[in-house]
Amino acid sequence: IGIIGGSGLEDESFVECKEVKVVETPFGNTSDSLTIGRIHGIRCVILSRHGKNHTINPTNVNYKANIWALKQERCNVLVVSCAVGSLKETIVPGDVVILDQFIDRTTKRLSTFYDGSSDLFPGVCHIPMAHPFCEDLNKLLHSIANDLGIRSHASGTIVVIEGPRFSSRAESKVWQSYGASVVGMTTFPEVSLAAELALPYTALALVTDMDSWQESDHVDVDKVMKQMKKNSQSFKNIILNLIPKILSLNWPKLLQNSEVIAT
Ligand code: ADE
Repeated sequence: IGIIGGSGLEDESFVECKEVKVVETPFGNTSDSLTIGRIHGIRCVILSRHGKNHTINPTNVNYKANIWALKQERCNVLVVSCAVGSLKETIVPGDVVILDQFIDRTTKRLSTFYDGSSDLFPGVCHIPMAHPFCEDLNKLLHSIANDLGIRSHASGTIVVIEGPRFSSRAESKVWQSYGASVVGMTTFPEVSLAAELALPYTALALVTDMDSWQESDHVDVDKVMKQMKKNSQSFKNIILNLIPKILSLNWPKLLQNSEVIAT
């Protein structure tokens, strides 16, 4: 199981028998060393998206190296977290949204392995993206969050912005007009790079703020940091409960769904 921890989830104390591994990739360096260990006896590989000291901004994360390294370390699925702002009254800080769709509004990111830069990925690849997130993992995550009493939303669309700045009020209202649930700065292009490597991918969006659409309030870093500390416990609890249950999934179906055909 590959786990990519987003902002505020740099603590890896819940992993047993840890070893730290630096992995070289044809695409450059990963955000940080990988932590390889066991959760409930199951091998997990953990990567801190922004680096263990949170030094890499969302634009500069080497998404291709990160996803490649997790595949190379024999991960079969990816479970990730990301911090997000809410675009709906019904979604509030502390909630977890299990993402099922995304809208890409990034501008500066390398988003395909098939960009002609590597002989490992020849040709053109038009990867299907109708169902970007793994439905089976999503269902499992939702039932676990419910069992734990964590307020969670079974589905939701994320708008991924380039950042590092937050959205203006006008932009925030545009994201709402898309019908999106939350806004964040990551998940894309991880989700489509994972698809190119046939890795089922599921994302827990941890709500830290109400973004910028409300007249009375707006997001700032202080609010995000404070809420993130609280949210990290939910993520850890969900992960700790997910890992033992993940084995009960229909793996042949899960992996078959994510087969890639490049032409
Ligand atoms: N991450 C956390 N809150 C966010 C917001 N409101 N917009 C973009 N990224 C975020």
